[in-house]
Amino acid sequence: MKLADYKATLSFSNGKPSMELPVYQGSVGPDVVDIRKLYGQTGMFTYDPGFLSTASCQSTITYIDGDKGELLYRGYPIEQLATNCDFLETCHLLLYGNLPNASAKADFTKRVTRHTMVNEQMQFFMRGFRRDAHPMAIMTGLVGALSAFYHDSTDINNPEHREVAALRLIAKMPTLVAMAYKYSMGQPYMYPRNDLSYAGNFMHMMFATPCEDYSVNPVIERALDRIFILHADHEQNASTSTVRLCGSSGTNPFAAIAAGVACLWGPAHGGANEACLNMLEEIQASGGIAKVGHFMEQVKDKNSGVKLMGFGHRVYKNYDPRAKLMQETCREVLTELGLENDPLFKLSMALEKIALEDDYFVSRKLYPNVDFYSGIVQRAIGIPVNMFTGVFALARTVGWIAQLNEMISDPEYKIGRPRQLFSGSVTRSVPPMAQR
Ligand code: ACO
Repeated sequence: MKLADYKATLSFSNGKPSMELPVYQGSVGPDVVDIRKLYGQTGMFTYDPGFLSTASCQSTITYIDGDKGELLYRGYPIEQLATNCDFLETCHLLLYGNLPNASAKADFTKRVTRHTMVNEQMQFFMRGFRRDAHPMAIMTGLVGALSAFYHDSTDINNPEHREVAALRLIAKMPTLVAMAYKYSMGQPYMYPRNDLSYAGNFMHMMFATPCEDYSVNPVIERALDRIFILHADHEQNASTSTVRLCGSSGTNPFAAIAAGVACLWGPAHGGANEACLNMLEEIQASGGIAKVGHFMEQVKDKNSGVKLMGFGHRVYKNYDPRAKLMQETCREVLTELGLENDPLFKLSMALEKIALEDDYFVSRKLYPNVDFYSGIVQRAIGIPVNMFTGVFALARTVGWIAQLNEMISDPEYKIGRPRQLFSGSVTRSVPPMAQR
């Protein structure tokens, strides 16, 4: 860590001596107060459930300005990356810090694609699951199981192992997601095709069958690639922090990424796109646009427990820039597939319009997040609702690995070990059974 840019003084009203704390400035964004010596010098911890005010690490990968609605990967605005680059270029950027030139891109693409197959034994592992298992339950198991198959890339302290594990994970995630889908459908697995693009190969493994030729629709291919770019990283969100914390114990990269998959599954995080589409379908089934007003009343009623899924974000207090790009992609895909009048898309537009004008949402700075439109796109493409979070996990894998590798390479990294404010019983004796 560099020298302090300035200092803050922490004083106490109970007569304890005050303490000076170093403050550091980032290249952009809020300054941070370094409290690492607080416990040693005062015997006190800080208290910050949900990490509302805590920077858990130093990072150079992704920057979000939630008030402006800005998202940068390594300094590049997401709008420019989504428009001018493809997913593998974005992966290169996140992993190595720079956009590849043509030959570096060709080399990286080759290095990723040679890892697209999974060990043939994985399909027998898959057979242990029920056919109706949730794909995220399967993904959590499969990603963790990779460490049982690729023993030569499990040493997190070895840079070569980390590099190979990164390539393997990026290359194999589409194969695993598609296998989970095919297994649920009872269809044969389709082996990867390395002559196709990353997104095109995923479409092939998902939707092709051995009985017929399958050709990749370029509009859908580009839409999927954009979904991957938009979900590739999002700084220290819940699943990324989970990956960092899990990896901080020195566990292998596959196990750490499996922890990220498990965290992403929750409806307040990556599971929101599934929850959002289920919500739209329920409103549609109960009467569609005519029922939007009634639904919004429920959302605003704190006792109802109903939330407008796909709205609100811990960091964005403005329109999520990814949601704008996703809305654009949504229109392109629906037009390409002749679904311009898709009732769920119309319903989502109506909900968005009301929410953006309603004081409940305006005063709380609640705007659509990326999940508000990504579910409609995926559903139109033919991806079943319960696979949405798996597609998100596929895309986020590169961000998880980039963040994990950044942490391991940081000389200041330590095992993550939060403290607590204990409010339970003080020492007491175990009473004999008859007295309990
Ligand atoms: N619908 C209705 N009210 C909401 C919503 C919503 N979607 N989101 C937040 N609020 C309300 C809260 O009830 C709270 O109201 P109050 O101040 O009157 O108590 C206020 O807005 C602030 O919300 P918090 O829950 O404190 O915000 P927090 O930062 O903790 O939560 C979260 C963010 C979890 C994303 C929340 O907005 C939410 O649950 N949204 C719906 C789920 C969703 O879309 N998640 C996807 C996140 S993006 C991603 O993971 C890719």
